[in-house]
Amino acid sequence: MKELSVNHLLGIKYITESDIQLIFETADHFKEVINRPIKKVPSLRDITIANLFFENSTRTRLSFEIAEKRLSADVVNFSAASSSVKKGETLIDTVNNILSMKVDMVVMRHPNPGAGVFLSKHIGASIVNAGDGAHEHPTQALLDTYSIRERLGDVAGKKVVIVGDILHSRVALSNIFALQKLGATVKVCGPKTLIPKYIDKLGVEVETNLRKALNWCDVANMLRVQNERMDISYFPSTREYTQQFGVNMELLESLDKEIVVMHPGPINRGVEITTEVADSSQAIILDQVQNGVAIRMAVLYLLASKIKNYED
Ligand code: NCD
Repeated sequence: MKELSVNHLLGIKYITESDIQLIFETADHFKEVINRPIKKVPSLRDITIANLFFENSTRTRLSFEIAEKRLSADVVNFSAASSSVKKGETLIDTVNNILSMKVDMVVMRHPNPGAGVFLSKHIGASIVNAGDGAHEHPTQALLDTYSIRERLGDVAGKKVVIVGDILHSRVALSNIFALQKLGATVKVCGPKTLIPKYIDKLGVEVETNLRKALNWCDVANMLRVQNERMDISYFPSTREYTQQFGVNMELLESLDKEIVVMHPGPINRGVEITTEVADSSQAIILDQVQNGVAIRMAVLYLLASKIKNYED
């Protein structure tokens, strides 16, 4: 049986193109499973998974939880707001306490970049990074590239522009790595203040003119402005941001070709994209959400099979 080259999913940076293809093939199978009348399979019946969310989340947490339940895993949920972290406990202590209750896998969202990598060096369980600060969000990039493959047949050779707040976005970084590993060309577009200085080192070009960027691309991934990560003002006003970097129907229809519009959610309707764009047939936003469950089932299944092999 084919298996992943890693024991944890900490970032797209650490996995290979073959890992991504294996996750996609496995997700194809699970996508078929979740469209059946009986959506559950017994694959992870003897596995216990802890979802540790030290930062707010709605769709990612729900998506992981649904994926885990569809695989028949035992699931425990933990969110920082109601935990002893507030009493001053360290991350390793918190997680070791949970692991001593015989937890096999940890899905973790944390505000600090590198939190997953750090934890993987100190604990025995398999770790899935569900977003670490402004660093990586690997399952989001997997579901995004999987959704491009589903809509356009392939990711290789495609041109993708990521628009908006690149500086604070873990979705942007993970997408850049995944798209490039799969053979796509990536550009970024946004206010100069929200483009990181090191971007050219990642082999990514910057296009500051949104119309030019959209006319170049096959797919536009519209990111949310991450106000919660901003300590200073990066652009004059939301209205000006929308005028320069927002997409409305008029702009979409005036392009040379029909492009695919993506958004990781949560959408600020009327800021990054208008309601008409979000609900148009060119947008694949709800496909992304649906594919998220199949992708997460695939990741959990493939990592769990490595734990089982190790124990055998
Ligand atoms: C993203 C995240 O949390 O990084 N959302 C998500 O996972 N669905 C993007 C965002 O918050 O804008």
